[in-house]
Amino acid sequence: MRMRTKKWAKPELAVCPFYIKNPEDYRGNWKGYFKNDNPIHLELGCGKGRFLAQVAVVNQDINFIGVDLSSDMLGLTKRNIEASYKEKSLEIKNVCTTWQNIERIENIISGDVIDRIYINFCNPWHKPKQYKKRLTHTRQLLNYRKFLKDSGEVHFKTDDDQLFSHSLSYFEEAEFEVIYQTTDLHSSGYEPNYRTEHEDMYSAEGIKIKFLIAKKV
Ligand SMILES: C[S@@+](CC[C@H](N)C(=O)[O-])C[C@H]1O[C@@H](n2cnc3c(N)ncnc32)[C@H](O)[C@@H]1O
Repeated sequence: MRMRTKKWAKPELAVCPFYIKNPEDYRGNWKGYFKNDNPIHLELGCGKGRFLAQVAVVNQDINFIGVDLSSDMLGLTKRNIEASYKEKSLEIKNVCTTWQNIERIENIISGDVIDRIYINFCNPWHKPKQYKKRLTHTRQLLNYRKFLKDSGEVHFKTDDDQLFSHSLSYFEEAEFEVIYQTTDLHSSGYEPNYRTEHEDMYSAEGIKIKFLIAKKV
């Protein structure tokens, strides 16, 4: 079902202190944005931001960047982050969000600055002609390698069996080592797991969640 347009999203983002309007300005200087040397984790396709809001608030010594290409989603992410930090009476200092098409992510991030990438429930693009658009496609992984630190990790979750099995090959082709994988995350005992909105939706339908961690070698 298509989500109703959020007319409030763009005006709210325009005055949001942790929404970056010109991410190109920080290309090569994300540490400068956060003003510290803490590790930086990047979520690609953060959607409504439920994952980001949970993981960032309990990891104050890690900086987080959430990227999406939908302003409506980024508006919801903003509200989820605000609610999560308000609940814990914390200032929002270690998380920011921005608009960017991930296929051109190198426009906003360069150098070996990212310690970890999260990809949660990206579009599976089932037609062979569309495979290249997958956020885990080899072409994309080779781009991510350019700004992922050595031994940096990609954490990938999906509901989709075909995308999961193809992604295992993509990671191998892009010279990542898969150091953890499960085809049933919720029964695997893996902790901590922060559930995303799509994760809950698929899980409620009885679909098992596939998850892997791949390390840059
Ligand atoms: C299926 S949703 C998953 C949202 C969330 N990660 C979750 O697990 O619930 C995919 C998200 O990725 C975003 N997205 C898809 N392709 C993208 C791209 N090329 N660049 C940036 N965001 C993208 C969409 O706008 C959407 O919010």
